[in-house]
Amino acid sequence: MLWVKTFHIVFVASWFAGLFYLPRIFVNLALVPPDSTAERERLLLMARKLLRFMTLLAVPALGLGLWLWLGYGIGRGPGNGWLHAKLAVVLVLLGYHYGCARLLRAFEQGRNRHSHVWYRWFNELPVLLMVLAVALVVVKPF
Ligand code: HEM
Repeated sequence: MLWVKTFHIVFVASWFAGLFYLPRIFVNLALVPPDSTAERERLLLMARKLLRFMTLLAVPALGLGLWLWLGYGIGRGPGNGWLHAKLAVVLVLLGYHYGCARLLRAFEQGRNRHSHVWYRWFNELPVLLMVLAVALVVVKPF
Protein backbone atom coordinates (compact mmCIF):
# COMPACT_ATOMS: atom_id res chain seq x y z
CA MET A 1 0.00 0.00 0.00
CA LEU A 2 2.83 2.39 0.83
CA TRP A 3 4.35 1.93 -2.66
CA VAL A 4 0.99 2.73 -4.21
CA LYS A 5 0.75 5.87 -2.07
CA THR A 6 4.37 6.77 -2.91
CA PHE A 7 3.69 6.72 -6.65
CA HIS A 8 0.30 8.37 -6.17
CA ILE A 9 2.08 11.37 -4.63
CA VAL A 10 4.87 11.32 -7.28
CA PHE A 11 2.40 11.34 -10.20
CA VAL A 12 0.17 13.93 -8.51
CA ALA A 13 3.18 16.24 -8.08
CA SER A 14 4.18 15.69 -11.74
CA TRP A 15 0.62 16.40 -12.95
CA PHE A 16 0.61 19.62 -10.94
CA ALA A 17 3.89 20.71 -12.56
CA GLY A 18 1.93 20.82 -15.81
CA LEU A 19 -1.13 22.45 -14.21
CA PHE A 20 1.15 25.21 -12.85
CA TYR A 21 3.27 25.74 -15.99
CA LEU A 22 0.75 25.52 -18.87
CA PRO A 23 -1.21 28.66 -17.81
CA ARG A 24 2.16 30.42 -17.48
CA ILE A 25 2.73 29.70 -21.19
CA PHE A 26 -0.76 31.17 -21.81
CA VAL A 27 0.35 34.39 -20.03
CA ASN A 28 3.26 34.61 -22.48
CA LEU A 29 1.09 33.73 -25.47
CA ALA A 30 -1.34 36.52 -24.52
CA LEU A 31 1.64 38.94 -24.49
CA VAL A 32 3.07 37.94 -27.91
CA PRO A 33 2.78 40.84 -30.44
CA PRO A 34 0.57 39.84 -33.45
CA ASP A 35 3.52 40.01 -35.90
CA SER A 36 5.78 37.66 -33.86
CA THR A 37 4.73 34.43 -35.62
CA ALA A 38 7.93 32.49 -34.77
CA GLU A 39 7.59 33.19 -31.03
CA ARG A 40 3.88 32.32 -31.10
CA GLU A 41 4.54 29.00 -32.90
CA ARG A 42 7.35 28.15 -30.43
CA LEU A 43 5.07 28.77 -27.42
CA LEU A 44 2.19 26.84 -29.03
CA LEU A 45 4.48 23.84 -29.63
CA MET A 46 5.61 23.92 -25.98
CA ALA A 47 1.99 24.16 -24.81
CA ARG A 48 0.84 21.24 -27.00
CA LYS A 49 3.67 18.99 -25.76
CA LEU A 50 3.04 19.99 -22.12
CA LEU A 51 -0.71 19.34 -22.38
CA ARG A 52 -0.07 15.87 -23.85
CA PHE A 53 2.50 15.11 -21.12
CA MET A 54 0.35 16.30 -18.22
CA THR A 55 -2.64 14.34 -19.53
CA LEU A 56 -0.49 11.19 -19.52
CA LEU A 57 0.59 11.95 -15.93
CA ALA A 58 -2.95 12.56 -14.69
CA VAL A 59 -3.98 8.97 -15.52
CA PRO A 60 -1.64 7.14 -13.05
CA ALA A 61 -2.04 10.00 -10.50
CA LEU A 62 -5.81 9.44 -10.34
CA GLY A 63 -5.66 5.68 -10.98
CA LEU A 64 -3.37 5.10 -7.99
CA GLY A 65 -5.64 7.30 -5.84
CA LEU A 66 -8.62 5.18 -6.85
CA TRP A 67 -6.60 2.06 -6.02
CA LEU A 68 -5.91 3.42 -2.49
CA TRP A 69 -9.60 4.23 -2.05
CA LEU A 70 -11.38 1.33 -3.74
CA GLY A 71 -8.59 -1.28 -3.56
CA TYR A 72 -7.28 -0.76 -0.03
CA GLY A 73 -10.54 0.72 1.27
CA ILE A 74 -8.89 3.86 2.68
CA GLY A 75 -11.55 6.50 3.12
CA ARG A 76 -14.46 4.11 2.61
CA GLY A 77 -17.43 3.97 4.95
CA PRO A 78 -18.89 6.56 7.33
CA GLY A 79 -16.80 9.37 8.82
CA ASN A 80 -14.68 9.91 5.70
CA GLY A 81 -16.15 13.18 4.44
CA TRP A 82 -12.58 14.30 3.69
CA LEU A 83 -12.36 11.90 0.76
CA HIS A 84 -15.67 13.06 -0.72
CA ALA A 85 -14.53 16.68 -0.43
CA LYS A 86 -11.18 15.68 -1.97
CA LEU A 87 -12.97 14.02 -4.88
CA ALA A 88 -14.93 17.25 -5.41
CA VAL A 89 -11.58 19.10 -5.60
CA VAL A 90 -10.34 16.47 -8.09
CA LEU A 91 -13.42 17.08 -10.30
CA VAL A 92 -12.64 20.83 -10.31
CA LEU A 93 -9.01 19.99 -11.20
CA LEU A 94 -10.16 17.83 -14.12
CA GLY A 95 -12.41 20.70 -15.25
CA TYR A 96 -9.40 23.04 -15.04
CA HIS A 97 -7.28 20.59 -17.08
CA TYR A 98 -10.03 20.38 -19.74
CA GLY A 99 -10.37 24.18 -19.66
CA CYS A 100 -6.64 24.48 -20.43
CA ALA A 101 -7.11 22.23 -23.47
CA ARG A 102 -9.98 24.49 -24.67
CA LEU A 103 -7.92 27.65 -24.13
CA LEU A 104 -4.98 26.16 -26.06
CA ARG A 105 -7.30 25.37 -28.98
CA ALA A 106 -8.54 28.98 -28.89
CA PHE A 107 -4.93 30.23 -29.07
CA GLU A 108 -4.20 27.85 -31.98
CA GLN A 109 -7.22 29.20 -33.88
CA GLY A 110 -6.41 32.84 -33.08
CA ARG A 111 -9.57 33.11 -30.98
CA ASN A 112 -8.04 33.96 -27.59
CA ARG A 113 -10.27 36.48 -25.76
CA HIS A 114 -8.39 36.85 -22.45
CA SER A 115 -5.62 39.22 -21.38
CA HIS A 116 -2.31 38.23 -19.77
CA VAL A 117 -3.68 39.60 -16.46
CA TRP A 118 -6.66 37.21 -16.68
CA TYR A 119 -4.27 34.31 -17.26
CA ARG A 120 -2.14 35.35 -14.22
CA TRP A 121 -5.23 35.02 -12.01
CA PHE A 122 -6.27 31.79 -13.79
CA ASN A 123 -2.77 30.49 -13.00
CA GLU A 124 -3.41 30.83 -9.23
CA LEU A 125 -6.35 28.41 -9.09
CA PRO A 126 -4.31 25.14 -9.11
CA VAL A 127 -2.30 26.43 -6.14
CA LEU A 128 -5.48 26.85 -4.12
CA LEU A 129 -6.79 23.45 -5.23
CA MET A 130 -3.53 21.71 -4.29
CA VAL A 131 -3.59 23.24 -0.79
CA LEU A 132 -7.20 22.11 -0.39
CA ALA A 133 -6.56 18.53 -1.59
CA VAL A 134 -3.41 18.04 0.51
CA ALA A 135 -5.02 19.54 3.64
CA LEU A 136 -8.08 17.31 3.25
CA VAL A 137 -6.05 14.09 2.90
CA VAL A 138 -3.39 14.88 5.55
CA VAL A 139 -5.52 16.62 8.21
CA LYS A 140 -8.78 14.71 7.42
CA PRO A 141 -10.81 17.50 9.12
CA PHE A 142 -14.14 15.70 8.71
C1 HEM B 1 -9.24 10.23 -7.98
C2 HEM B 1 -8.59 11.07 -7.24
C3 HEM B 1 -7.93 10.70 -5.92
C4 HEM B 1 -8.25 9.71 -5.03
C5 HEM B 1 -9.37 8.69 -5.10
C6 HEM B 1 -7.28 9.80 -3.93
C7 HEM B 1 -7.28 8.96 -2.82
C8 HEM B 1 -6.29 8.95 -1.87
C9 HEM B 1 -6.26 8.04 -0.74
C10 HEM B 1 -7.31 7.01 -0.40
C11 HEM B 1 -5.10 8.30 -0.06
C12 HEM B 1 -4.57 7.59 1.21
C13 HEM B 1 -4.87 8.45 2.41
C14 HEM B 1 -4.30 7.86 3.68
O1 HEM B 1 -3.53 6.90 3.63
O2 HEM B 1 -4.59 8.40 4.75
C15 HEM B 1 -4.42 9.37 -0.74
C16 HEM B 1 -3.22 9.91 -0.34
C17 HEM B 1 -2.77 11.12 -0.80
N1 HEM B 1 -3.30 11.86 -1.84
FE1 HEM B 1 -4.80 11.31 -3.05
N2 HEM B 1 -6.39 10.83 -4.19
C18 HEM B 1 -6.76 11.41 -5.38
C19 HEM B 1 -6.19 12.51 -5.97
C20 HEM B 1 -5.25 13.29 -5.32
C21 HEM B 1 -4.87 14.62 -5.77
C22 HEM B 1 -5.40 15.36 -6.98
C23 HEM B 1 -3.96 15.08 -4.88
C24 HEM B 1 -3.34 16.43 -4.96
C25 HEM B 1 -2.81 17.15 -4.18
C26 HEM B 1 -3.73 14.01 -3.89
C27 HEM B 1 -2.82 14.06 -2.84
C28 HEM B 1 -2.58 13.03 -1.94
C29 HEM B 1 -1.52 13.04 -0.92
C30 HEM B 1 -0.50 14.14 -0.67
C31 HEM B 1 -1.64 11.83 -0.21
C32 HEM B 1 -0.76 11.31 0.96
C33 HEM B 1 -1.43 11.66 2.26
C34 HEM B 1 -0.79 10.99 3.46
O3 HEM B 1 -0.06 10.04 3.33
O4 HEM B 1 -1.05 11.46 4.56
N3 HEM B 1 -4.53 12.95 -4.19
N4 HEM B 1 -5.16 9.76 -1.85
